[in-house]
Amino acid sequence: MIALHDVHKAFGAKRVLSGVTLEMPKGESMVIIGGSGTGKSVLLKCILGLVVPDRGRISVDGQPAEGGDRDAFLARFGMLFQGAALFDSMTVWENVAFRLRRGRDKLPRPAAREVAVEKLRRVGLGPEVADLYPAELSGGMQKRVGLARAIAADPEIIFFDEPTTGLDPIMAGVINDLIREIVTEMGVTAMTITHDMSSVRAIADRVAMLHDGVIQWTGPVGEMDRSGDPYLDQFIHGRADGPIAAVR
Ligand SMILES: Nc1ncnc2c1ncn2[C@@H]1O[C@H](COP(=O)(O)OP(=O)(O)OP(=O)(O)O)[C@@H](O)[C@H]1O
Ligand SMILES: [Mg+2]
Repeated sequence: MIALHDVHKAFGAKRVLSGVTLEMPKGESMVIIGGSGTGKSVLLKCILGLVVPDRGRISVDGQPAEGGDRDAFLARFGMLFQGAALFDSMTVWENVAFRLRRGRDKLPRPAAREVAVEKLRRVGLGPEVADLYPAELSGGMQKRVGLARAIAADPEIIFFDEPTTGLDPIMAGVINDLIREIVTEMGVTAMTITHDMSSVRAIADRVAMLHDGVIQWTGPVGEMDRSGDPYLDQFIHGRADGPIAAVR
């Protein structure tokens, strides 16, 4: 579904991606892991065209990601941003229904609200939060509203940037199950960035580790524990000692 070939991106003198090659099969759940600041969010933004790579090729479903009809391209994606990125001036349900209220097939307000309330329910939020503003919610609730917005328009491909960070363990489990469910039941292709190893095991079909600008290791989640890769081993066990320096 998504193929990256030799993707490079630098910001000034800082090289972030230096030749990322990765394929994500359709209908599978890919989890990207890697240290803070290694370029995971940048990688995701490159696929969406929010950040333009310096070099390399990215294609989605066989079509080049750049050029073409941007609206039609973006309509295939749902995205949960790392910081939730809700619109402060809109209520919760208006945030969730944002995409549904735009474009050619836009839904009337009452129908859009109904979809929003249903999506909120799926992420563990009751109808009483629908008319609140983001500032009236806790951080974890805002994250779940971001998730509800990502799934609202039933996209084919969903990106989740740190979906469980800041959630309590039970709610993290609910969100992991939800991600697994939308991949299995709705045939969605999902790409999730996370630091949470229990999330990796709950969500992933395949895992890819980004390190030093390239994919250090990729494979099925079942092979992660016997990869023999010292970088991956250090990361999944959270060891301070190993080939990855703690100060970057
Ligand atoms: N728009 C930008 N302009 C300049 N530098 C940027 C920009 N976006 C990201 N960077 C830099 O690129 C590097 C990678 O950032 P990125 O957000 O992808 O990290 P990450 O792997 O997602 O980290 P974390 O796990 O902490 O979220 C960082 O050094 C960051 O400062
Ligand atoms: Mg990030």
